[in-house]
Amino acid sequence: MRTTTAQIRKFKQDGVRFAALTAYDVITARLVDQAGIPIILVGDSLGMVVLGYENTIPVTLNDIIHHTRAVVRGSQSAMVVADLPFMTYHKSPEQALDSAARCMQEGGAQAVKLEGGRVMATTIRRLTESGIAVMAHIGLTPQSVHQLGGFKAQGKTKQQALRLMEDALAVQDAGAFSVVLECVPAALAQLITNRLEIPTIGIGSGPDCDAEIQVVSDILGWFTDFQPKHTKRFAQLADQAKSAIDTYAAEVRDRTFPTQAHGFSMDEEVVREVKQAFPAS
Ligand code: KIV
Repeated sequence: MRTTTAQIRKFKQDGVRFAALTAYDVITARLVDQAGIPIILVGDSLGMVVLGYENTIPVTLNDIIHHTRAVVRGSQSAMVVADLPFMTYHKSPEQALDSAARCMQEGGAQAVKLEGGRVMATTIRRLTESGIAVMAHIGLTPQSVHQLGGFKAQGKTKQQALRLMEDALAVQDAGAFSVVLECVPAALAQLITNRLEIPTIGIGSGPDCDAEIQVVSDILGWFTDFQPKHTKRFAQLADQAKSAIDTYAAEVRDRTFPTQAHGFSMDEEVVREVKQAFPAS
């Protein structure tokens, strides 16, 4: 049985803090699931950390469904949340319904995430009233990177802060079971968290959200060139992987690998017969 939205809500009621993490493939999903993490997000961050795009805009619904399938195959206990990509839910609540249905029916997701506050309230309501679990996402919403003028903290002025509080209340009223707060000043994230009944899931929003979410490639250190301010490297996998690949290539070049032990033997008699059938020319 996978984590349910009721359990996620209860975590907040009981003051139980939890971690959520992204995954895009079966191996990572298995590790995240085995760690007992209750929510795996197939984030559209896959555009940047897996597909090599500059931002999340080019990610398609088919991309998300493809990776969601792998994550569902790799996990048993976590709720798998599929991130609705840019322009797959903005046009109308009906478009959102179609996109969410594909993530669930073709991808096997248990919930979807979408970006936006008050402006998405009608859409969130349409989805939740159709039985679809929705995680909302406010603050820095990467699909609006060009309109926001870059990846930067949101809600610093009084006007912006009041709007973000209104956004949080609007997505809760519309039926979202949780809300991601991305790059919201810690003090504001705390105020929102105290005000909401649904869990806030922070990223770059300080220590006082109900839960934390991170991009798995960031915490594992898969990239050496760039480290977002909101993350911490818990491993340096890029360094380890590079060293392993360098060693593999060197051992192949100098004939240290593979050895007989890495292959399969055959009967000497068969070898002789093959040699006789195809004598060296
Ligand atoms: O796409 C993603 O990985 C996300 C998280 C950063 C919340 O939206």
